Amino acid sequence: MEEQQTSPPQTLHGEVYYPSAETVTQANIPDPEAVRCEAEADLTGYWARRAGELEWYRKWDTVLDESNPPFYKWFVGGKTNIVANALDRHVRTWRRNKLALIWEGEKGDLKTYSYHALNREVCKFANVLKSMGTGKGDRVTIYMPRIPETVIAMLATAKLGAIHSVVYGGFSVEALHGRIEDSESKVIVTADGGYMNGKVVELKKIVDEALQRTAAPENVVVVKHTGREVNMEAGRDYWYHELMNLPLTRNSMKCETEVMDAEDPLFILYTSGTTGKPKAVLHTHGGYQVGIYATLKDVFDLKEEDRWWCTADPGWITGHSYIVYAPLIAGATSVMYEGAPTYPFPDRWWTIIEKYGVSVFYSTPTAIRGLMRFGASWPNRHDLSSLRILGSVGEPINPEAWRWFHKNIGKERCPIMDTWWQTETGMFMIAPTPAMPLKPGSGTKPYFGVQADVLDEHGNSVKPGEEGFLVLKRPWPAMLRTIYKDPDRYMKTYWSKYPGLYLAGDSARKDEDGYFWVIGRVDDVIKVSGYRLGTAELESALVSHPAIAEAAVIGLPHEIKGVAIHAYVITKAGVETGETLVEELKRHMAHEVGPIAKPEKIEFVSSLPKTRSGKIMRRVLKARALGMAEGDLSTLED
Ligand code: WTA
Repeated sequence: MEEQQTSPPQTLHGEVYYPSAETVTQANIPDPEAVRCEAEADLTGYWARRAGELEWYRKWDTVLDESNPPFYKWFVGGKTNIVANALDRHVRTWRRNKLALIWEGEKGDLKTYSYHALNREVCKFANVLKSMGTGKGDRVTIYMPRIPETVIAMLATAKLGAIHSVVYGGFSVEALHGRIEDSESKVIVTADGGYMNGKVVELKKIVDEALQRTAAPENVVVVKHTGREVNMEAGRDYWYHELMNLPLTRNSMKCETEVMDAEDPLFILYTSGTTGKPKAVLHTHGGYQVGIYATLKDVFDLKEEDRWWCTADPGWITGHSYIVYAPLIAGATSVMYEGAPTYPFPDRWWTIIEKYGVSVFYSTPTAIRGLMRFGASWPNRHDLSSLRILGSVGEPINPEAWRWFHKNIGKERCPIMDTWWQTETGMFMIAPTPAMPLKPGSGTKPYFGVQADVLDEHGNSVKPGEEGFLVLKRPWPAMLRTIYKDPDRYMKTYWSKYPGLYLAGDSARKDEDGYFWVIGRVDDVIKVSGYRLGTAELESALVSHPAIAEAAVIGLPHEIKGVAIHAYVITKAGVETGETLVEELKRHMAHEVGPIAKPEKIEFVSSLPKTRSGKIMRRVLKARALGMAEGDLSTLED
């Protein structure tokens, strides 16, 4: 290994990267194993200590209420609001003049916000929302490009105690419609469009179309971003800049932050599950803020002087937790970029790192694999010496991509934090801290106080190296509290396979050093380029096309995307199959669900393997496609 490395505290197996002496001495957590022991011995004591680093209107009475599992409660009796920790407490100190956000648009425009400026815009927009009748518990749908107004809208909603439902700007008509309808949002915040890869994504047009399919919400607020002409419906649609400039709003730079119970809802976020429509995962103010703050600070070693860049989109959990909330709670300066990493050239990200002096950079395996293709000469043209820590999330990172990232971006100096977690977990669950030895492809060990295991079908821990179901054995503060409007589904999905244990839906291995290796989903969730999609929503979009009678969708390995969508369709009688229909179906999927839902391959078939009760046996399709054994076929229909 490299010369600057410290002598290993213990000898680990396989390909191991030990931290440098410098990384260890300067780390927020120089001795992770000691903290791990502390948290294991006294879970609630550990979390109370971390919660104590934040501000509360009223301190909690009980750290963890386990009286009604799996409906766990955290910091019961505590009064707070996540915005009080993300903004209010900072603007009372010198940090009011620190940069909270540095934003670059795809076209190269730049906007910066100090904590003071961000707070001012949030207060103004909160007053706008209030004037539309939005208050505690109301839902606000946010369907936006990656621009600062997205962050402002989320914080303004939370400040009022309302619940945001952010829909990823890459989703399209039907996906948006379903989420607006299920959340019963009264207000939608959107934009005239966003830039992605040199093209304009016409968000307002998609909103208009989605609203034709549902009872209209009362108000739509539209941010002018591209300047493109859009349809504005009188009495329903309002320009953001006009509302923000009304004499009343312009001068209303103060807005009280609503005092919330720790367990009051903060947001819902739709995510794909095993069956049926996407479900709305619900997170709350109190525990969530503690979990995401502690994990960001420890895992990415965040310091006052860091410049943090998480390349995710605010529309996914990674953006909620680690673009919007945790960096602000930690008082950090974040970089946010609107567009594609390859626009106009494949060094756009490396240019941004150099330009703004990014020190901690958190991205995805798909992006790394995609940029790897263009070769190391692109990053090598840039001074990336500001970087000190790297991160990865969303899917397993293959060792080849890990090594490329480590060598060409981190220059063999920067440790890579591979973080395993989920929309449901809210915060990192299996992740190293910089002072830990790393193995490419492993998220190392569970975060402090988190207990994970790998179980067989009967609930026994499997032997080291064997594959099994990944479970979490103790509650954690940022855990989902329920599925919005569907507590039964919450219990069934996560807590029924092994009573008392949280089922992640992933398969994993644990090695002889106690390091975890997440392999992938074992349910009908497909992670395409790290984006989470469900076979059910993809299939229902396919059959919504008039030519299609039945459809089955599976995920198959893909060199760049990790997993790609393969669809098998049965057409209605008399329909002509062929390339034209394939292209038409791909367009249909992009229009209904979003461009990420375009199948890689569509095959026309005359029947689908089903159980006698009519359930599609996707594992059989998958095995056939991969040329593998089809396994137990005793339940197959014929
Ligand atoms: C996968 C994203 C391997 C996993 C934060 C999980 C990962 C799902 C990793 C959740 C990782 C996420 N290594 N697999 N570091 N991170 N996953 O809800 O399958 O969009 O269950 O949350 O992503 O996806 P979600």
